[in-house]
Amino acid sequence: MINYTYIGPISQLITFEETPLKGALHDDGLAPKKNQGILMKNGRIEAVDDHGALFAKAEKLKAKIYGLPKKSTVLPGFIDSHTHICFSGDRALDYARRNAGMTYLEIAEKGGGIWDTVTHTRNAGQQELAQLTAQRANLLLSRGITTIEVKSGYGQSIEEELKMLRAIAQAQKLTKATLVPTCLALHIIPREFKGKAEKYVDTIVNNLLPIIKEENLAARVDAFIEQGSYTPLMVKPFFEKARESNLDITVHADQFTTGGSKVAINYEAVSADHLEASGEVEIALLAQSNTVATALPGATLGLGCGFAPARRLLDQGACLAIASDWNPGSAPMGDLLTQASILGAFEKLTSTEILTGMTYRAAHALRREKIGRIRPGYAADIVVFETGNPHEVLYRQGQLRPSKVFKNGELIQQAHDI
Ligand code: NIG
Ligand code: FE
Repeated sequence: MINYTYIGPISQLITFEETPLKGALHDDGLAPKKNQGILMKNGRIEAVDDHGALFAKAEKLKAKIYGLPKKSTVLPGFIDSHTHICFSGDRALDYARRNAGMTYLEIAEKGGGIWDTVTHTRNAGQQELAQLTAQRANLLLSRGITTIEVKSGYGQSIEEELKMLRAIAQAQKLTKATLVPTCLALHIIPREFKGKAEKYVDTIVNNLLPIIKEENLAARVDAFIEQGSYTPLMVKPFFEKARESNLDITVHADQFTTGGSKVAINYEAVSADHLEASGEVEIALLAQSNTVATALPGATLGLGCGFAPARRLLDQGACLAIASDWNPGSAPMGDLLTQASILGAFEKLTSTEILTGMTYRAAHALRREKIGRIRPGYAADIVVFETGNPHEVLYRQGQLRPSKVFKNGELIQQAHDI
């Protein structure tokens, strides 16, 4: 059966059809088209055109028609290309302790930190984790995020990492958002392998990656390269095996100290994420590479430290994506639109740079070709805001929520709390 859906008239349609992949973008790049309509067929965009003619065609095809208010801004569905939403427990106490002046080490000694989430996640069943993940994904979807990357990394053993990845696969059946799983087996050094991290890497490479391939649990891997976690040397066998197995590589890079972004570029990683500590050398290397530079303003806001040098990265020619890093520790807010708006205010980014960082350029970080733009053949993932001024979407710093969200052509969300 063929299903047609139509929305229109759209007063401001932003498609990012002509947007370049890399470098700084002027606000002219928003290029809103007036009085448009979108015809969708079986979950994909079929046509984008002036409302009058396309509406007549939609009526003839007996499309399901959604009228829009007089003033509307329509954008491609948002993409959150870096999250850790598969977890159990919370770390509210860590947050309070950090703000009260306790150091990372002191918090860890008191039983907090990433290991606390590992413990809670290990204690949760697969079904429970799937439900928690889907709940969070559905909340994001209602806010216009139609594709969500989800990492493992709170299992930190073969069995527990598998449980997380299987939970993410199970969560996919409970949400209409697209979930993109990533194996973050090299997150922290597991307590069981203290002083012998190489052994842990070895078991991950030889015993976990083959199962991930076999069960098709993830097409991407990630490692946290940082002092106290994994060194560039330690991740080598992991990334080499990943490359050999045709798994995409992404890196938690340059969060507190530099080193990770260079590794990311050397392994032709699809993205290097965090970058708060990146200096001019790292910025230049990222800008010359095909690795997407991903800023995670949620981690800056959660930890109360500096933002990634997004302005410099763009000015030097990098491809900048913006993601939430939603996790219970460093980035508990989990609100991409709010965070991206605030990053823009601090880093002086244009609306085009911010919004492409959450759409077209984020799609590139996930190597998904048919999302992130409004164009025939692309997924009909679409967000509608009730405003005639596209700049208002960011100006309201996340408080203007989408009034409608379409995922694969289906209306998911209809709200009027603006
Ligand atoms: O991206 N930096 C390392 N990992 C996560 C934090 C995870 C956690 O604190 O639970 C991050 O910020
Ligand atoms: Fe992260």
